[in-house]
Amino acid sequence: MKIDIPYKRWKKAVHRRSSRRKYYHEPIEEDLEILEKSVRELKREFPLSRVITKQKGFSEVSKNIIGSYGLITGASSYAIITGKTSEDDFKANIHAGVVGEGLILEATSLGLNTCWMGGFFDREEVSSEVEIEEDEEILAITPLGKAKDLLTITERLAKLASGSRKRKSLSELCDGDFSDKAKRWMKRAVKLSRLAPSAMNRQSWRFGTNGEELILRSAIQKNKQSVSPYLDCGMHYYIYW
Ligand SMILES: Cc1cc2nc3c(=O)[nH]c(=O)nc-3n(C[C@H](O)[C@H](O)[C@H](O)COP(=O)(O)O)c2cc1C
Repeated sequence: MKIDIPYKRWKKAVHRRSSRRKYYHEPIEEDLEILEKSVRELKREFPLSRVITKQKGFSEVSKNIIGSYGLITGASSYAIITGKTSEDDFKANIHAGVVGEGLILEATSLGLNTCWMGGFFDREEVSSEVEIEEDEEILAITPLGKAKDLLTITERLAKLASGSRKRKSLSELCDGDFSDKAKRWMKRAVKLSRLAPSAMNRQSWRFGTNGEELILRSAIQKNKQSVSPYLDCGMHYYIYW
């Protein structure tokens, strides 16, 4: 199925995106419409996930969360990313990764800042803001807005705690025979993939090839206690175009 999405623009945004945690409290009404529209097309190929944007209320859903490694504050608007996990947990998380990262890359292209939040938010509060279907689960949220120009001290500490600037080397991310077998486009794609976000910056994705296809797998299995690694895997969809 051919879907019409701005791969070129989003690919550029991959380089510019980084998770930001301190925001100005500015409304972004018009941008929210553009954002929702931009990911609507993805629904056709990734129907197990939905993105819902909210103009206000981020502070309500993110407050009083003990243990947040980010303490993400200030934003007014946010987006909710859901997945139909009771239908197919693995697929739903992949779909949510694709659709959610699409939203994040479009937001980045519009000059907005974001931060995937997989665990540390008030799920009950978010559920009261949106109609969730029976087979659907809230998998993540992200603030949407303008981040403070300079990194604050707490934000620097959060980045340090999650080691967010560090990326694994290509040899750690790829199978031993990858560089011998991989075509040029595969090597380019994997370099771009290293920049993708992941929960706690765990970078659990691994790449292999049979010479014809680029194969992505997760180095860790799903653990009920933590954010699904398959959500992280969905982020790489845009990189191979
Ligand atoms: C699925 C997912 C869940 C995440 N959850 C959180 C979170 O709850 N709180 C937080 O501060 N950052 C969260 N992050 C952001 C990661 O810490 C960040 O992507 C990683 O450290 C790499 O940094 P970068 O995004 O600036 O490149 C999450 C990222 C992903 C992909």
